Amino acid sequence: MFGNINAQTTNHAFPFRSMHLDVSRHFFSVPLIKEYIDSLAANNFNYFHWHLTDDQGWRIEIKAYPLLTKTGAWRKEKDNTIYGGFYSSEDIKEIVDYALKKNIEIIPEIDFPGHCSAAIAAYPWLSCSEEAIEVPAKPGIYKTILCPTDTVKSFLKIVFNEICGMFSGKYIHIGGDEVPKKSWRKNKSVKRMMLENNLHSMQQVQNYWMNDIATFLQRKGKSVIVWGEVTRSAFSKNLIIMSWRAKHAGIRAAKNGNKVIMASRFYCYFDYPASRKEKKPVFFYPYLTNAKVSRYNLYSKRLTAEENRNIIRGAGMLWTEYVTDTNRLWHQFSPRVGTLGKVLSTKCR
Ligand code: ACM
Repeated sequence: MFGNINAQTTNHAFPFRSMHLDVSRHFFSVPLIKEYIDSLAANNFNYFHWHLTDDQGWRIEIKAYPLLTKTGAWRKEKDNTIYGGFYSSEDIKEIVDYALKKNIEIIPEIDFPGHCSAAIAAYPWLSCSEEAIEVPAKPGIYKTILCPTDTVKSFLKIVFNEICGMFSGKYIHIGGDEVPKKSWRKNKSVKRMMLENNLHSMQQVQNYWMNDIATFLQRKGKSVIVWGEVTRSAFSKNLIIMSWRAKHAGIRAAKNGNKVIMASRFYCYFDYPASRKEKKPVFFYPYLTNAKVSRYNLYSKRLTAEENRNIIRGAGMLWTEYVTDTNRLWHQFSPRVGTLGKVLSTKCR
């Protein structure tokens, strides 16, 4: 009876409820991605946030830049074995069509200017130093990042143009988290960019540059999502802010009139251990019990009713630095995902 309803128009009438998967740190097959989409549909989610690129691997074929996957999708592990994989454009089409049938819209994320080691390993001219690097295997925040030059901007536009051709949905995520900007400080083109555009901090440089790409995408009809770090200096009202640390970025953004997606790591990060009986993969991970997920309040008393309405709702994350295989993936996923699905479907302002 509802066969003709298009997910792209249907979803937008409802609160935003997305679940993410990082396929860079560990790669997951097309059948697994389809199963994951089935589970999102079964747990009240309407968007799949697909984190396709990061330091440890570039996972989507881009025809204009073949080395992104030829080089950037593969890394050498500690034991010298080669690990990797990527989705061809045919794989992407198959998954996008599959998701659409399940009323799940896919939000592709190409994270820049940080978390780009795999792209830089493929094309060293993307960084300010232009030095050759390898795709790293270890988790962490890497200081080699994209350089905000016109050449790199052209590269990004070509990449995002291909991404827009592959994903028909309304939303696109362009990253912006965890950007160590030391390599920009002495760079001549960054200095010129600051002078010409009256920019006074590295965060302003990041925002100015990301805004250029966002405008390019908005002209193509996309709604652009960025991570909360962008709110650390003046930011465009047209960006949708995904607030992943505590609530501060989301609150700043909602006050500014931006649309906000709440995704606090203390309530929504399913790579964290679910009980004290579990071993932490790293000491700094907090525990996130199912009961805690059920208590997640996305809204804030620090916002007026009007400002709280800017929170279009929330998102769960599954980062995979320590999620090495599908057994581990489902272990981290259930049952917290069901609980978050309910919270995002029912919690009102
Ligand atoms: C993030 O967890 N770095 C968004």
